[in-house]
Amino acid sequence: MTERVVLAYSGGLDTSVAIGWIAEETGAEVVAVAVDCGQGGEDLDAVRQRALDCGAVEAVVTDARDEFATEYCVPALQANALYMDRYPLVSALSRPLIVRHLADAARYHGATMVAHGCTGKGNDQVRFEAGLAALHPELRVLAPVRDSGMTRDRAIAFAEDKGLPIDVSKKSPYSIDQNLFGRAVETGFLENIWNGPIEDVYAYTQDPAQHREPDELVITFTSGVPTAIDGEELTPLRIIEEMNRRAGAQGVGRIDMVEDRLVGIKSREVYEAPGAIALITAHQELENVTVERDLARHKRGVDQRWGELVYDGLWFSPLRSALQSFVTEANRHVTGDIRMVLHGGRAVVTGRRGEASLYDHALATYDTGDTYDQSLARGFIDVFGMPAKIASLRDQRLNK
Ligand code: ARG
Repeated sequence: MTERVVLAYSGGLDTSVAIGWIAEETGAEVVAVAVDCGQGGEDLDAVRQRALDCGAVEAVVTDARDEFATEYCVPALQANALYMDRYPLVSALSRPLIVRHLADAARYHGATMVAHGCTGKGNDQVRFEAGLAALHPELRVLAPVRDSGMTRDRAIAFAEDKGLPIDVSKKSPYSIDQNLFGRAVETGFLENIWNGPIEDVYAYTQDPAQHREPDELVITFTSGVPTAIDGEELTPLRIIEEMNRRAGAQGVGRIDMVEDRLVGIKSREVYEAPGAIALITAHQELENVTVERDLARHKRGVDQRWGELVYDGLWFSPLRSALQSFVTEANRHVTGDIRMVLHGGRAVVTGRRGEASLYDHALATYDTGDTYDQSLARGFIDVFGMPAKIASLRDQRLNK
């Protein structure tokens, strides 16, 4: 029986050429798998047809947008996940979703190999291969762009030679990866890190400097899951889409940064993630109101580690899974409403309310009705400051 390869297919030049390239190289049949994680653009049927026209024996396209929103974006939101304090893990979140679909397809179609179109310089090759190793360790991985000389020039020559139905002329100067949670743009003139991004780079956000009326809205969370906007109950997918639209219109969530890749390279990335940034801002503030101080402090460290693991391609790892349990538990009482104003590139929280709030007006107030016994503070501070005081006295005794 002919062997089969499952290929992570995007519909673009590289992975379209990879179908024939891999078939020639291995003699195996290629099954193309495309996963819709909200990248928009082309119709999925067109993507599927192109895979078949390029020689795939089967082409599977899956609408995984709800799954992506609920099982990947929501956990990231609950972990306030920002790699290097800024990047909301857009690409890093979609890879484990794609990996899961590849592994399932490999089992279903009896494939012994899986292929991806990543180069050898990025994080995504690690995310695909480490993820596949965890979910389906028997599979052999093929990476034609990295390992068998499928450069861009040779890919274009291959496409022209075989008359593949791909328009090689409309290639953008940038390398772009986009999905429901945001958009990543690199290469081209952005590789000079002194060059500022031009408006042309952006697609999810409007120019924040342009004058617009501010947009005020209320986001409801239930145990850390966004469940409604302005009182209207919506699925996480619909909420992220709606926040992309409203926050994007106000220029929220543009990020220009130099980032530390797992493979050791520093790279310039321009991101736009309007919904993700607005939602993380709202979620973080609701945590401030509903999560007890020590738990909140500890969670900040867990959140950071969670983000690093996911960035590093270790979604399917024992540590991510254990930290996930902590993050989920810590979100148990993160329920309530956040009011925010979107304007001029910023998402600013202006109000919070909810039954799970730990804010006690009677304790906090400086007006009448104060229930806090201020006389207790004095003794508390005496004890609290005692270790440092004793050490200081010792230093004086020993002549500083
Ligand atoms: N540097 C980001 C990451 O590793 C984004 C990479 C996305 N790819 C792209 N072609 N822009 O998650």
